[in-house]
Amino acid sequence: MSDFSILATDGKARRGALTTAHGVVNTPAFMPVGTAGTVKAMLPESVKATGAEILLGNTYHLMLRPGAERVAHFGGLHKFMNWPGPILTDSGGFQVMSLASLRKITEEGVAFRSHIDGAKIMLTPERSIEIQHLLDADITMCFDECTAFPATPEQAAHSMRLSMRWAERSRKAFQARPGYHLFGIVQGGIYRELREESAKTLTGIGFEGYAIGGLAIGEGQQEMFRVLDFTPDFLPLDRPRYLMGVGRPEDIVGAVARGIDMFDCVMPTRSGRTGLAFTRRGELNMRNARHTDDTGPIDPECSCPACRNYSRGYFHHLIKAKEMLGPMLLTWHNLHYYQELMQGLRAAIAAGTLDAFVADFHAQRAESES
Ligand code: GUN
Ligand code: ZN
Repeated sequence: MSDFSILATDGKARRGALTTAHGVVNTPAFMPVGTAGTVKAMLPESVKATGAEILLGNTYHLMLRPGAERVAHFGGLHKFMNWPGPILTDSGGFQVMSLASLRKITEEGVAFRSHIDGAKIMLTPERSIEIQHLLDADITMCFDECTAFPATPEQAAHSMRLSMRWAERSRKAFQARPGYHLFGIVQGGIYRELREESAKTLTGIGFEGYAIGGLAIGEGQQEMFRVLDFTPDFLPLDRPRYLMGVGRPEDIVGAVARGIDMFDCVMPTRSGRTGLAFTRRGELNMRNARHTDDTGPIDPECSCPACRNYSRGYFHHLIKAKEMLGPMLLTWHNLHYYQELMQGLRAAIAAGTLDAFVADFHAQRAESES
């Protein structure tokens, strides 16, 4: 029996439900990023109010500060951060490579120095899985290496095969418990044969879900979609598929149509903190002087508190004055926008009208005001 059920399909797209120890996740799902035990600028109950059903947490950040054993002392990440719902944690390898210094990859794992205090640390598949257990992650990710872009076929194969050996070690280290899931991560760069080999290796080991890693790292949307045209076909139909670190609204819409069920990205939260607002008509930079005297809302069709109660001119002022309410309300609006997009995608798949939904999504953005 699987904890993932597919409720409807439309072409390659799927409308599903994933049961975890801390609740059900309706898919396609977007996971707000709560890197350091908080979705930046948001109360957990506000994140919930946007419609989010699952958060992403990070092994790398939490192991450095406050420490995984300390989070366990507080009863796990759900209790520590006051988010009672499902949590997926990334395994740390990707963040080590982008944030830590003096990194050294060996068969054993990755040795590095903390970006916080310079401490020497070793992360292995076994330690990454142990940390994710201490955090009490509902969904644990295999420890992997995100292959750099660009990479030659030889480099991508070497890197992918290391990740596959680490996936085997991750599976062995993972303690199976009801409602707790371990996801494998398909690597292989932009190469079809390598993606196929990786997917076959992982399905041979057997995971509760399968992520696609190593994308959205500079290859561009066209190339990412080309890889997504074939990679999901190598994965079992009855397991959730998670596209890591993606993306912009148009990336998510295209990936859902290609059979992806789960997403995470800092885009809505990070953009909110820099003054960028996502709307049905495209993105608005609230720093832009054209908003100075605008008494209208960011998005008249949006029901979030930022759009119901405040004007574009007020947001322009908050951002210019560096007031923290600006990032708070813009993050809320952006997460609300992302969750409404996912709700729309789920409804369209269930109704068998995804093609029309996608066409309408692009048509509305083409009517952009700028
Ligand atoms: N986040 C974005 N891409 C990746 C990836 O390839 N691996 C992991 N672990 N996390 C990611
Ligand atoms: Zn809004």
